[in-house]
This record gives sequence, structure tokens and C-alpha cells, in this order.
Amino acid sequence: MAFLGRSNVGKSSLLNALCHAPGLARVSSLPGRTRLLSFFRVDGRFYLADLPGYGYARVPEPQRRSWKALVDSYLVGREPLVLCVFLVDARHDPMASDEQLRDFLDHHALPYVVAATKADKVGRGEAGRRTRSLREAFAPGARDVLAVSAVTGTGTPQLWRQVLAAAELKVSGRSETPTEPARVEGTSPSHRERRSHAS
Ligand code: GTP
Ligand code: MG
Repeated sequence: MAFLGRSNVGKSSLLNALCHAPGLARVSSLPGRTRLLSFFRVDGRFYLADLPGYGYARVPEPQRRSWKALVDSYLVGREPLVLCVFLVDARHDPMASDEQLRDFLDHHALPYVVAATKADKVGRGEAGRRTRSLREAFAPGARDVLAVSAVTGTGTPQLWRQVLAAAELKVSGRSETPTEPARVEGTSPSHRERRSHAS
């Protein structure tokens, strides 16, 4: 499961919100914060991958190119990637770099859902309108388009259900979102510390 989208769109925040684990993935108001791939193992069953954002103009070109190579090589030519969560900002039309990513995912037939995030920053009516127009913009590739917010939790149960369905986990007998992050294992010692807190 990979979280994709422009720098600062809220990938790390949404990953944390889905796992009910604030502080798991590093969030920053400065775009370009996530520089490497980080993996979080959920329930010992699958991994969430927090990826660096793309399209952040102030990152030097060579670095942008190396991120792109990193992300592309992560996404393509591997079996276990069951779903990409493609984040776009609920407040704006998709940008050229979003369209490039969409075309890339479509070209490689990678499964994805679109999460229109920061939905708390627009009214409910506006979020609905944007979701509908995004459905058109991302058809037929996207499996779904959901308005979400990492701040209020809007849409996260629906997104989590998609994640679980894609991972072919049984939803029955489980709450719609995990009430706790269960066993979320990070890639750095600080994440391991947090895990021992959580468990
Ligand atoms: P990079 O790692 O730099 O690519 O960024 P990112 O996509 O991981 O974004 P990150 O989660 O670090 O969030 C960027 C900023 O947006 C932070 O200031 C977050 O607090 C804010 N943010 C993220 N999600 C939401 C949301 O749903 N609502 C609101 N209001 N703010 C959000
Ligand atoms: Mg990030």
C-alpha cells in the first residue's frame, strides 16, 4: 500500500490518521519533508509505504530526479503492491504533475484510489462537488474517489475499508477502522519505541 501525491498534500498525515498513530510518519508544514521511503507494517499483515512527494519546485532538479527514480522503481515491477492511495488536494483542480502520476499509474495498470484530502478546509457541498469532478478526471483508472481529512477523520473509515479489501483481508468481525494501530512497526528506532507504547 503506497501513499502518493504532491509534496505537502498530506500523505504522511493521512497514513498516521488511518493508523490512529499521530507521529508515526513525519509530518511537516515544509514541503519535501519525506525524503526516503518509510514502511509501516500493520497487523503483521501488510505494509503502508510513505513516499516522498513530487512536484515540489524548490527541491533541486537532481534530487527530484533521484526521488522520482526511487518512487518509480518502488511502484513498478513488483507483485505485492495491492493499492496506491493517490492524494490530491480537495481545494484545487488536479495539477499537471497529478495528471502525470495518473497517466503513469494507468499506464502500468497499478490499482489506486484517489483521496481528495484536506476536505476539512472546504465545505461539505464543495467537497461533494470536487469529488464528482475528480471522479470524471480520474475515470476509468481510479477504483474510487473519496473526500478525506486527516484532521477530522472524514472519509478515513471508507478509505480504510478500501485498503483492507485490497489487501484481501476479511472486513467482517473487524471494526471499520482499527481502534488502535494494532502492531504498527516502523523502520526507525523511534518508531519501535512508539510501537512499544502502543502495544
Ligand atoms: P511531503 O512528505 O513533504 O511530501 O508532504 P506530505 O504529503 O507527507 O504532507 P504532510 O503529511 O507532511 O502534511 C503537510 C501539511 O499539511 C502539514 O502542515 C499538515 O498538518 C497539513 N495537513 C495534512 N493533512 C491535512 C488535512 O486533512 N487537513 C488539514 N487542514 N491539514 C492537513
Ligand atoms: Mg510526507
